[in-house]
Amino acid sequence: MYSDILRTSRLRANDSFRRLTRETHLSVDHLMLPIFVVPGHGIRQEIASMPGVYRLSVDEVIREVQEVCEFRIPGILLFGVPERKDAFGGSAYDPEGVVQQAVRAIKSQLLRVVVATDVCLCAYTTHGHCGVVEKNQIVNDATHEILVKVALSHVRAGADLVAPSDMMDGRVAKIRLALDTHGFGHVPIMSYAAKFYSAFYGPFRDVQDSRPQFGDRASYQIDPANPREAMREIEIDIQEGADIVMIKPALPYLDIIARARYVADVPIAAYQVSGEYAMVQAAADKQWLDGPRVMMESLQSIKRAGADIIITYFAKEAARALRARS
Ligand code: PBG
Repeated sequence: MYSDILRTSRLRANDSFRRLTRETHLSVDHLMLPIFVVPGHGIRQEIASMPGVYRLSVDEVIREVQEVCEFRIPGILLFGVPERKDAFGGSAYDPEGVVQQAVRAIKSQLLRVVVATDVCLCAYTTHGHCGVVEKNQIVNDATHEILVKVALSHVRAGADLVAPSDMMDGRVAKIRLALDTHGFGHVPIMSYAAKFYSAFYGPFRDVQDSRPQFGDRASYQIDPANPREAMREIEIDIQEGADIVMIKPALPYLDIIARARYVADVPIAAYQVSGEYAMVQAAADKQWLDGPRVMMESLQSIKRAGADIIITYFAKEAARALRARS
């Protein structure tokens, strides 16, 4: 039979057809919410460049995580904003640090949620770099020991998953070994494997007050022009024992997510970062874009590219939208 028009539109005619033929699915099961913890009590301070995102004291974190659980969001990722900073990021592994306190408090509530923690130094060092600094250079190997201490302090507090975001070479292997030798062989590592040297982290650095005080992060984060290098980073982190590999930012790097999907057999996480969130919120605020639709479309696109897990400041809003849909 011959037809002179090939009609792809037949299966788009109504919602039932569209549901039957939808190729990829976004669900609340894929979402993780980043949460910023600050010292103090009763603090819920909105971040100017990220409307709807707050710095929370531990008591408020508990309320937030309860809400996360009500939405059935399966994971959170904790970041600390510490009281004090020093040259080596010592407060990052303080058992009484904000992240450690928050983890313990969440775990004491027996909430059913994966509590992941960011393992890095930039928010805890006076120079704002993710590693140890000597003579204005980042010293890769000297950073391992501190990162190991940070990861151990998090899992001792009860963290379910640690997520090193520093981009030092070899740190996944070192953290894996330390977890295994200290009785935490069951705790997985989600490595920020392909973390690009990106301007999209801008609003986040205001929240954590983690801007480098000299130079930039180009000597340890990946050049945005380099997809092959990103694949190498991913392969190396898997070899070193990463259970989940992350790509970050998300939307500007969908090609990396798609490419990683073909080579990696471990789950892939994509981090829709602060700048991605801020852009959508700012344009929506000006009514230049339909915020909720752009949010869902961007999350769907990240999923379509091949991400299993999406870390997003939109997690609660997206969960609400997904619930309304079903
Ligand atoms: C810290 C870290 C950063 C982000 C997550 N972990 C910032 C950076 O590397 O400067 C960015 C997250 C975001 O922008 O939402 N190493």
